[in-house]
Amino acid sequence: MVRVYVSRALPPGPLESLAERLGLELEVSPHDRPATRAELAAGLASAEVVVSQLLDPLDAELLAQAPGLKLICNYAVGTNNVDRAAAAARGVALTNTPDVLTESSADMTWALLLALTRRVLEGDRMVRAGEFVGWAPQLLLGTELSGKTLGVVGLGRIGRAVARRARAFGMRVCYTGRRELSEAEAEGARYQSLEELLRESDVVSLHCPLTPETQHLLDAERLAWLKPSAYLINMARGPVVCERSLVAALRAGRLRGAGLDVFEREPLLAEGLAELGSVVLAPHLGSATEEARLAMAEIVAGNIEDYLAKRPLRTRVVGH
Ligand code: GLV
Ligand code: GLV
Repeated sequence: MVRVYVSRALPPGPLESLAERLGLELEVSPHDRPATRAELAAGLASAEVVVSQLLDPLDAELLAQAPGLKLICNYAVGTNNVDRAAAAARGVALTNTPDVLTESSADMTWALLLALTRRVLEGDRMVRAGEFVGWAPQLLLGTELSGKTLGVVGLGRIGRAVARRARAFGMRVCYTGRRELSEAEAEGARYQSLEELLRESDVVSLHCPLTPETQHLLDAERLAWLKPSAYLINMARGPVVCERSLVAALRAGRLRGAGLDVFEREPLLAEGLAELGSVVLAPHLGSATEEARLAMAEIVAGNIEDYLAKRPLRTRVVGH
């Protein structure tokens, strides 16, 4: 019997019905928290398939303790938690959950951006505290998006969905990334170097994968290129930004605000971040809609079915 280890329960339905239909042995972590390293090692030891979460560190050492492992289904679009080279070297395939979370992630980007530019959370705190004493001409003034420039770092599926929303709001869109895209792929967004984009954008939104090249892509030096009136949104991975330098830059007024869905040492926050009024913080909710999370579970189940049927995996990142 094929054994599938699930390091944390997914929205119910797709995996359970697959297991029943195909007679799989499903071992789901009983804990409502991330699996510990010891639990991961124990779960992997006898599994042929693992369904992993984005904070599970599937590194070379853990993979070496999983002699029968053939397939990793990461329940995320990002796969930076998996040592891909180690997986490939062991003949272990890796899949992710692209596409189905694109619109949800772009919606969340927009939620953070509007919350920031219109000071929604500051207003909410004021009203709840009983400090709203009536409309006032200069109360909590924010910034209009129309006519402003959005700079997208990483114009992939999510970056493009964010750019479409920006155009609907009357924004100009530019982007940067590893390479300049064709005009059709860029959908009207203008290519710029990272430096030009950071110096000219009113809103900078990060949608690149975390790789050795994007680790601390925004360090102290590059954060200083932002305009003092600029907003930064990070929907990618925490370590793309040096969080300590970001706190220092915000404190010094070197940018106007930041919307963060991800953190450098998630779930921990850099010192001082939570005390800043100019940030909006979300607990990694990019894909957190009922629609996206269920569709992600369906993709995981589909990949397991592909693997068992010896078909090409539908969302393969590594192998087979
Ligand atoms: C979320 O961050 C994901 O990679 O799916
Ligand atoms: C605001 O509520 C306005 O009427 O201007």
